[in-house]
This record gives sequence, C-alpha cells and structure tokens, in this order.
Amino acid sequence: MKNIILIVFSFFVFSCAEVYQPAVVSARKEATQIGLEIMKKGGNAYDAMIATHLALAVVHPTAGNIGGGGFFVYKDQDGTSGTLDFREMAPGNAFKDMYLDKNGNVIPDMSTLGGAAVGVPGSISAIFEIHSKFGSLPIEELFKPAIDLSENGYVVTEKQSNSLTGKLEDFIKINGDKSLYSKRYFEGDTIINIKFAETLKKISEFGPKAFYEGEIAEMIVSDVKKSGGIMTIDDLKNYKSVWRDPVKFKYKDLEIISMSLPSSGGILIGQMLKSIEDYDIKSFGHNSVEAIQLMVELERRAYADRSHFMGDPDFMNLPVYELIDKKYVNDRMKNFSWDKATPSSEVKHGNIIINESDETTHYSIIDKYGNSVSVTTTLNNSYGSKVFVEEGGFFLNNEMDDFSSKPGYPNFYGLIGSEANSIKAGKRMLSSMTPTIVLKDNKPSLIVGTPGGSTIITSVLQTILNVYEFDMDIQDAVNAPRFHHQWLPDVVIFEEGSLDKVKDSILKSKNYFVISLPIQMETGGMSPRSSIGAVDAIYVDDKGNVSTGADFRGDDYGEILK
Ligand code: DON
Repeated sequence: MKNIILIVFSFFVFSCAEVYQPAVVSARKEATQIGLEIMKKGGNAYDAMIATHLALAVVHPTAGNIGGGGFFVYKDQDGTSGTLDFREMAPGNAFKDMYLDKNGNVIPDMSTLGGAAVGVPGSISAIFEIHSKFGSLPIEELFKPAIDLSENGYVVTEKQSNSLTGKLEDFIKINGDKSLYSKRYFEGDTIINIKFAETLKKISEFGPKAFYEGEIAEMIVSDVKKSGGIMTIDDLKNYKSVWRDPVKFKYKDLEIISMSLPSSGGILIGQMLKSIEDYDIKSFGHNSVEAIQLMVELERRAYADRSHFMGDPDFMNLPVYELIDKKYVNDRMKNFSWDKATPSSEVKHGNIIINESDETTHYSIIDKYGNSVSVTTTLNNSYGSKVFVEEGGFFLNNEMDDFSSKPGYPNFYGLIGSEANSIKAGKRMLSSMTPTIVLKDNKPSLIVGTPGGSTIITSVLQTILNVYEFDMDIQDAVNAPRFHHQWLPDVVIFEEGSLDKVKDSILKSKNYFVISLPIQMETGGMSPRSSIGAVDAIYVDDKGNVSTGADFRGDDYGEILK
C-alpha cells in the first residue's frame, strides 16, 4: 500500500513539475560550468548559485568576491519570490563627513582606495542564509569546486591580463610588491591561490562564524587598519543580510520582479517601464531617434528622483510604490517635448511625501524545476579598495564610495546623492544593481542583470525592451549597442558602433550633449569606461525553450544542460 501511495505521489509530482533546461550565464566559463555541474549532481538553482558565486570569487577577482556584497532575487517553483540584501554596511565608526578635510573638501581617493573605503562584507552571510532556506546539497559540496579551482589555479584571459595590469600600480601601493596580485600576469598564466583555498575550507567547515568572528575576521580588520580603515571585529560580528520584499510591477502582460532599496535599480526600472507602457515604442524602432530620446528623458527624471529620495530603507521610509505609480510617472513627463532636450537643470525630483521614521558581476541561473535566480555582486570598482587580505587570499570592496560623501559631490560613477544616502554607522549605501526576473503567465521568462555602476539600470531596461519590444533573440538583445543618461552630468553616452547617425541627428537638432565611448573623464563626470555593462541573461520562450545571452563585452559565458 505504502508503495502504491509513493508511486501515485511521484507520478503526481512528476506530471505537475515543469521541466526546464537548466542553464547558467556568468562572467567566466569556469564559474558557469561549476554551477551546471552542481545541477547535474541533482542540486537546485540555489545550490548552483552558491557554487557559481564562490567560483567567481576565484577566477574573476575583479568583482567575484567574498569580500563584497550584492543582491539576490529569486522566483521559486512554489510560486513565491523574494530578495536577499547582502549589501555591505558602513562600519560602526563611520560618520557623515568622514571623507572631508577640515575645510569641508572631499579628500581624493579616500572613499575608493585603501582601508577607509571598505564596507562590512555581506557575501558569506548570504551564502549561508540562502543555503539554509533553499539549499539541497551539503554546503561542503558547494564549496568544493571553488576550493579545487583555487588550489589548481585558473588561467588568465587576455581581457583579464589587461584589467590586472591596469591596476598593478594600485596593488603595489596598497599591498606592497610581495602580494599575490602585485606582479604582472599575462594571458595564459595560471594563478594559484592556496591561501584562498584555505579560507574557503575553514568557512565550509565552520560556517559564517569562521569569516565574521574567527581568525579570518582578525586578518580583515588588521589589513583594513594597516591601510587607513576603521572596521572592527564587532562590525563583522554584527553584519546581517536581510530578506526584503522585491519591487514587483506589471509591464503590459509581463510581471517584473526586481531589487528594491537599498538598490535604486528596481524602482527606476519600474518608473521607466510604467511610463513606456503609454508609448508605442516598438513602432519607433530599436535605437531610433524617438526610442532613444524617450528613454533618455525618462532616465533623466528617474535618476533625479534617485539622487534626492533614495537610500537605505532601514534609515528612512520611502513610499516605493508611489514612485512607480502611473500618475506620478506621467506627471514627471509633463514637460517632455519631442522637439528638444529638457535640460537637467530644469528637472528636479518629483513630489513625494516621506514620513520620517569598474566592476561588478552578474549571474543568472535556472534549474529544471524553473527555480530562477538573478544575482548581482560586487566589490564596487575593479578589485574594490585594492586591499588584498594577504593571509586570506581575497580582495575587499570599496563600496563606501556609493554613499554621498558630500551633498552635490559626484561619486566614481558621477552620481550625486542627498541626505537620504549620507554616511551613517551601520547604514547601507545606495546601489544601482538591478538583478531582475521577468515572468510571463506567472512562469520565468527572462533572468537578467549586469555590472556597470550607474549604467546598470539603463542596460537592464534596454535589454528588457530589446527582447519584448524589438523582438531580438537573447544574445542579440545583450550584444546590442547601448546608451545611457543619468540626469547629471547632462550628457548621453553612447557605445561606439552603429549609433552614429542617430547620435548626430539628436545632437544637431535637439540640443542633446552626446559623448562617444571610450571616454576618459575625470571625477565629477562619468567614470572612465570603454563600453557599457556586461549583461548575462537567460530567456525562456513561450514553449519553454531556454536560451542564454552572455555579453560579448567580457569573458562571459552561458551554457545549457542538455
Ligand atoms: O552598487 C552599485 O551600484 C555599484 N557599487 C556597482 C558597481 C559596478 O557595477 C561596477 N561595475 N562595473
């Protein structure tokens, strides 16, 4: 009898479960394949997420990390969705004017380079939170591939060699010339990181306490202090990642699930898509003058709101859904004209009443049950603060630069903040990271996200529109040339490529100030960059076929388990 019940039950479960092709897209082939391997062994998307995250910390040290933070967005096969905020927190001794000299001027590099730039890291907390809520394989199995990779070494790619060489001077300045990354690496070299393997082994065996309380915590504090930082063991002990409600909204027949505060990403995507719903953007054509102009004007207004209103939700109470309300977003566009640009100097934040109370990485995963995971994680700039915890084998973030050091003073990405994003002990700095899942008929349709600092939000927006309005397949949608506007500075930046005609006609006839990449701009403008973003996405079509889009701009790689 027991057996019959079991057979009937299994049949019921099997016939109900949707069977998806498992897939992973990440910044590196090694990490993608490690995630897939975990699913081959019977692990789910959450197990794969942990193994992929740790593998990226080995092979993609510019952004993959245990010394940084990020955001995790999921849609589970049981229909629930949610997010985990594992953003870094300001140390307990942090204070509002900590990056200003006695005359009130911002001290150059202090919030970006060295120990003073480091926020309390969240990644290890997230890994164990996610594992205890959703994991199906033992944690040791999920750590093992990254440990092996660290011990056996990873091979440096051409792009990686350029990236490492570009920061060599900073590595030597901060860590001395004996440090693992304080030497020149060429394409084809193998980097072995035994110390990191040891670190991972300890955390795998003893759990998050090994990172936040034990000797690893002491190493972090000591290396941070050596280069001018203020983090304490208590800061590490007190770190907590937080389960938060996502931002959810409808765009036509789609449901979008994205990250809410302390990331501005989901809210800004919501503001822009709710407005675009009222235009026939498809008929304008992909990267046409009209489509670009509409998006630029929406970006201008959305980033003005970001700058004024947004910050850590634990320190304020912003009515998120009022900001993505149809009437509100339409009111914001009242002074929009097709004839010419609205100067940013004439665009301020909207009216909402508040009750007082150069390197990131994204990966997308789906498993055979349809569990979908969208994670963006970062050290902030390439290799973060450049502080390398020598005995632990890993870099620490410089996320403190995402706070507003001084009202009106732009951070590395040219973003300006207000009181809402001022520095306070224990506060999380405002982010632009936008890990997003799009549902169609309540099933996963698109899992998407990207690095790129302030341009993350506009890259995710353009990828969504490329798929659903401009009918591109996912790889074309990811590769298509991109542009960006963020209110201030009042410029539209374009990637080099096929947009020259559009740029010229906008520039000539409509008073837009346009810049082409690659650009080298000083602080106060946009950060130096040669391209916009590195989108990694998974698309599931109406018949359930899975395809991947791995951005050609990086070493990104997508694979489907057949
Ligand atoms: O949270 C943020 O918005 C930034 N710290 C992200 C940095 C980033 O994307 C760097 N990548 N190029």
